[in-house]
Amino acid sequence: MEFFDNHKKLFGTALGLFVGLTLLVAIIPAIKNQENNAPLPNAEKLSESALAGKQSFIANGCVACHTQQVRNVDMDKIWGARPGIAADYAAIKRTDFWRNTATLMGTERTGPDLTNIGNRQPSQAWNLLHLFQPRAVVEQSIMPAYPWLFEVKNEVGKDEVEVIVPDAFRKGISGKIIAKQEALDLVAYLQSLKQTPLPDGQAPMEFLYKNEEKPLTTNNGGAAPLPDGKTLYTQNCASCHQANGEGLKGAFPPVKGSPIVMGNDLDFYVSIIMQGYDARPEYAVMNAVGHDNNLSPEQVTAIINYERTSWGNNAKPVALEEVKKIIDLINSTAKK
Ligand code: HEC
Ligand code: HEC
Repeated sequence: MEFFDNHKKLFGTALGLFVGLTLLVAIIPAIKNQENNAPLPNAEKLSESALAGKQSFIANGCVACHTQQVRNVDMDKIWGARPGIAADYAAIKRTDFWRNTATLMGTERTGPDLTNIGNRQPSQAWNLLHLFQPRAVVEQSIMPAYPWLFEVKNEVGKDEVEVIVPDAFRKGISGKIIAKQEALDLVAYLQSLKQTPLPDGQAPMEFLYKNEEKPLTTNNGGAAPLPDGKTLYTQNCASCHQANGEGLKGAFPPVKGSPIVMGNDLDFYVSIIMQGYDARPEYAVMNAVGHDNNLSPEQVTAIINYERTSWGNNAKPVALEEVKKIIDLINSTAKK
């Protein structure tokens, strides 16, 4: 047969079949898939600084210990409000011409999942100190320190951010510890990591294999029981003020023995929790933890009462009604 004798025809046909099949089974489906998968309409784009931070996240190997995926199993519920979906990753593009897409979903969860870390820990001061020395904020942490993201200078220049490091972790450094641009970018990236809520009207899919939830409550002397203040304190406050209430000298003030915690100015106390606090240069800034974490008046009351009666603090518990009034007032003035 002439077909088998003519190498041009033979190889031409084989090549044609190969290209045609590749188009059919690989390239066209891939394009279709991409068209099908758009980012959620309310997803926010990364800022320039956050994009640079993502490069540094990749360069420093953070993905070796941190995932960015909320699986649809109940044990992952603490990492996000809903399981992750394909659209969460749809905006991720090739790193550059030479390097493939870095999805950073991760495979190893030595540290916590970071899908929603921007909501869980929005404080720049906490993140910078944690990168400089994780053990300064989390005593038992096994995360490595990243000192090369910081530099020591004699003075804090304009637009520079000083990291407030407790003496015990300064290792004899006498100057000011300044965050390099790379550290600021990295933290901007971490702060940008927030799970996007589904567009209006869509219910998130359920987590599977549910564990039964025990309601966490404390006795409230006959009135409706309040949520458990200790758990709420651990979840919302202990990363900075520490489990023992003693804070960190030079970064986060103690709530143990604090005149604000033990005192009678409830308006001030509630406003610190709901709106944050930045009064003294020797401490970092407290962000609006109550507002950011959507704390209810019941939860705020439980936390206040836990702080007022723990670690040797012995002030009288406050009533839910009073806290509710103050939060309503804060919310109504904030809206104006
Ligand atoms: C060897 C593993 C390891 C590496 C590498 C690592 N981490 Fe961690 N990370 C941990 C562990 C363990 C924790 C939990 C204890 C703690 O908070 O320090 C943690 C906690 C965190 C937290 C707080 C999470 C939370 O829910 O409170 C952030 C943010 C974080 N890491 C960011 C990073 C960044 C950014 C990098 C890269 C520069 C990085 N980590 C590299 C192990 C690691
Ligand atoms: C990201 C770290 C951070 C978190 C989380 C945090 N705080 Fe603070 N808090 C601070 C810092 C920093 C200050 C001091 C600010 C200043 O004085 O400039 C402060 C101050 C306070 C004070 C005033 C104490 C005093 O005697 O001056 C109270 C009370 C307080 N926080 C309560 C809370 C409660 C309750 C929570 C949890 C709902 C909480 N904080 C979560 C960082 C934090």
